[in-house]
Amino acid sequence: MHALDALSREAREAIRSAASVDELRDIELRYIGRKQGKLTAILRGLKDLPTDERAIVGTKANGLRIEIEKLIAERMSAMKGAHTRSQLEKEAIDISLPSRRASRGHIHPLTQIRREAEKVFVPMGFEVVDGPHVESEFYNFDSLNIPIDHPARDFWDTFWIRQHPRPTNPKQRLLLRTHTSSLQVRYMQSHQPPFRMIAPGPVYRYEASDASHDSEFVNMEGLIVDKDISVSNLKYILLTFFRTLLAKDVEIRLRPSFFPFVEPGFEIDVSCQACRGKGCAICKQTGWLELAGAGMVHDEVFRAAGYVKNEWKGAAFGVGMDRIAMMKYHIPDIRLFRENHMKFLEQF
Ligand code: FA5
Repeated sequence: MHALDALSREAREAIRSAASVDELRDIELRYIGRKQGKLTAILRGLKDLPTDERAIVGTKANGLRIEIEKLIAERMSAMKGAHTRSQLEKEAIDISLPSRRASRGHIHPLTQIRREAEKVFVPMGFEVVDGPHVESEFYNFDSLNIPIDHPARDFWDTFWIRQHPRPTNPKQRLLLRTHTSSLQVRYMQSHQPPFRMIAPGPVYRYEASDASHDSEFVNMEGLIVDKDISVSNLKYILLTFFRTLLAKDVEIRLRPSFFPFVEPGFEIDVSCQACRGKGCAICKQTGWLELAGAGMVHDEVFRAAGYVKNEWKGAAFGVGMDRIAMMKYHIPDIRLFRENHMKFLEQF
């Protein structure tokens, strides 16, 4: 029993002060190894002891073996854990390094202008609407008092959609809308006056491009139908719009003009904000830029919509939004908007 006590102290001390996993393995062999283990030798000698001593010594020796196994296993896993930690520390990477910033996109200048326009009209009670870009000949032309043989169709050089066979009914013949006036009768058919709406969106024309003309541009139709509407309402609304969007001192002028769907009709010129009226490349040295067409809704349009004659009055306008953006941002060439050069777009 004394020898066991001494062995226990010795083994515990050896395990506690072991400095490595290898050393622990040696200790394991030295005390409980199958061939040379000191404790193993004692356990083997049990059979030579008298029966009553054998039980006492046997219990104690076996307890000690289990204890040594447990202590060695504990220290070993602690050492392995420490090893893993130091390994991790050696292999660590610095994940706190800030990543490269993803560049953030921004809104195209024409969309910015369009949203600004909506902000002016919505508080004045206008609804914002859109419709098909591939439109029927009926809504783009016939319903606007521009029948098939009318020379005014030449104002709007048109991209036609190829259809086989070509339908005879203009409601089925398709084209790319040349203006958002195509929404006038569409809207009137599904809404009961009084109402006010704007329809901003892209339109398409088969025409050669130059600094102020493109084959696609953003057009914004405006339509007011009510009992008592006059040209002064039209003028006030357009002046408010241009003054809010461009500058407080903007002037507009109404030039008599012809559009088959209005009577009387006007071209709306705005005093050039790029040169403040002095004359520059944007306004072609005139001090004015034509930004919209407008007028009082023609009876024939109300008729196409199915309204009773003389029951309602209406005012309509169609604004070229690209040209407003050109004036506001001093852009000399309309084609820059759709060339999509980053150097141009990043300025907005
Ligand atoms: C029209 O398209 C008529 N629908 C406007 C209208 C609506 C008149 C309601 C009366 C009542 P116009 O073809 O002039 O009109 O075009 C309207 C505006 O779009 C012009 O004043 C001009 O600012 C702009 N615009 C016309 N053609 C082009 C083009 N090719 N590129 C860029 N902007 C253009």
